[in-house]
Amino acid sequence: MSNTIDNLLHEARRFAPSEEFAANAVATAELYERAAADRLGFWADQSRDLLHWHTPFTRTLDWTNPPFAKWFDDGELNVAYNCLDRHVLAGNGDRVAIHWEGEPGDSRSITYAELTAEVKKAANLLTSLGIHAGDRVAIYLPMIPEAVIAMLAVARIGAVHSVVFGGFSAESLRSRIDDAEAKLVITADGGWRKGRVFPLKDAVDAALANGESTVEHVLVVKRGENEVAWTEGRDLWWQDEIALVDADHVAKAFPAENPLFILYTSGTTGKPKGILHTSGGYLTQAAFTHKNVFDLHPESDVYWCSADVGWITGHTYVVYGPLANGATQVLYEGTPETPHPGRWWEIIEKYKVSIFYTAPTAIRSFMKIGRQHPQKFDLSSLRVLGSVGEPINPEAWMWYRDVIGGGSTPIVDTWWQTETGAIMVSALPGVTTLKPGSAQVPLPGISIDILDEAGVPVGKDQGGLLVVTEPWPSMLRGIWGDPDRFIETYWSKFGDKYFAGDGARYDMDGEIWLMGRVDDVMNVSGHRLSTAEIESALVAHPLTAEAAVVGAADETTGQAVVAFVIIKQNQLETAESIDVAAELRKHVSQQIGAIARPRDIFIVTELPKTRSGKIMRRLLRDVAEGREVGDTTTLADTAVMSSIQAKLT
Ligand code: PRX
Repeated sequence: MSNTIDNLLHEARRFAPSEEFAANAVATAELYERAAADRLGFWADQSRDLLHWHTPFTRTLDWTNPPFAKWFDDGELNVAYNCLDRHVLAGNGDRVAIHWEGEPGDSRSITYAELTAEVKKAANLLTSLGIHAGDRVAIYLPMIPEAVIAMLAVARIGAVHSVVFGGFSAESLRSRIDDAEAKLVITADGGWRKGRVFPLKDAVDAALANGESTVEHVLVVKRGENEVAWTEGRDLWWQDEIALVDADHVAKAFPAENPLFILYTSGTTGKPKGILHTSGGYLTQAAFTHKNVFDLHPESDVYWCSADVGWITGHTYVVYGPLANGATQVLYEGTPETPHPGRWWEIIEKYKVSIFYTAPTAIRSFMKIGRQHPQKFDLSSLRVLGSVGEPINPEAWMWYRDVIGGGSTPIVDTWWQTETGAIMVSALPGVTTLKPGSAQVPLPGISIDILDEAGVPVGKDQGGLLVVTEPWPSMLRGIWGDPDRFIETYWSKFGDKYFAGDGARYDMDGEIWLMGRVDDVMNVSGHRLSTAEIESALVAHPLTAEAAVVGAADETTGQAVVAFVIIKQNQLETAESIDVAAELRKHVSQQIGAIARPRDIFIVTELPKTRSGKIMRRLLRDVAEGREVGDTTTLADTAVMSSIQAKLT
């Protein structure tokens, strides 16, 4: 690992912005100066410039009760109005908001005027179903326009959405519904993925099958045309109901700190946390970063972020950032390789996409199958590329630039988290000289540092833990229903500084390199998973006595889930007669979702533990990555590792 870090930090390639790009760039170096001179004034200006406030704010930040921040808190706005109506009123109603591309090849282009009209009806529909400001609505949809419409309709009436990624299981959906006490679920019969319809309504039915729930209605968008079961009185077809409601809806203003959404993400314990974001600060930073980091010229650019709306990237850079900025964007339902391995590049050619934002794991899998696929398409419309979700290795960075970006497009590597709400560390195209593999510099108005374990800032060429040292507008406002966990997780290690959970280093220029999580959170294909959550799914299976999960380095997915499992004594015979690994993989899929399915499952008889009983995952990671096993002196029984290795070979 240290070799790799040395190689990374000696990456010598540099790419200065071209004169032409810099001359037309949205962001200028002056942003850094303005923010450095008056950080809060800078954010207040951004907020006033980028958003419409029904009631202007007079206070920028209230940090009198840290870590509970309030931004712009005496102002009032409507988030959906900012993403829709105001663009229509400004004369841009005919601009396409969404070029939607279904996986089977059907498509739909929706203008800002049309999207506004759809959201108004959906807002009336929600109100008619008894949804009021503050109520929670779970959204479990494929990547179809209704996902965006549903989110904005919830926002428009001041309610709170909790989008659950369509790949999560019924069990995961239920726990999120229960935690947020959602009154309504918006889903679809099914969506298209890999050439087939995957059922979603079935999962909602399964989620709600057992015990009382807070859900009063299930609104079902017709998309997959697959057969679904129906609960009379509870279930309603979206298309039928939308046809009945009033088309007019006036957006009411809500306080800046009105909750906008809850998004569940994995932490170090088995229970996902509901990250809470509010309105004015979140939308300010979403719009600011989307505009400046991607150099958005809304009148001419076509933007595409490949993330699903079920993740934070989809919230901020598919829904709120682009729509607040009046951008034209592509929304694609399916997978990159369906029906052929050049599907994404075909979409870029078709819509002349100029800004493209995706994850390193996708780039690495394209590298693997070869440049002949993208080379079949005309990608010359691309002028800015972005990367998010995990460190991008310099090799993938160069491939992205050369093969997708024609050897000239700037690449912005953007570091941020569900909790930060929006991009925090990134180059600014047109300003920053790019360095493959490094996320580089904090954005204007964002204060980042790297500290050692004792909380002392480290110097150049040194590593430590990444912190945010000052509150920022789109910061999480808490964990839903659990203020103690909020404080404990992020604010107990370094007091008033936000601890992100990432390791990082400064290079010789003082620029930032992300080194991966320092806690028990894994990053698989840019998706966050917790070792504890998968372990608890594994031990819930009747065969399993004990389980330990680690994230092992994987060439394509960044990390992969590797599980070590002990079978119960009285189940050994059963285990002999079946394919245990296949059975447990299926079980994890059902409990959490396919993304959490272990790549490898090793059946062992013991796990390496310290004298106090703590599993030493570091040693298991050595085994999973095929390395020599590190220091075992703190193990209660030092022979365990050799017995595990003997078992595996
Ligand atoms: O470890 C960091 C990694 O992804 C984590 C956040 O995951 P999530 O909340 O799911 O949000 C992902 C999309 C914003 C971080 O703690 N991460 C995210 N972006 C980068 C990254 N690691 C390195 N470089 C990045 N650009």
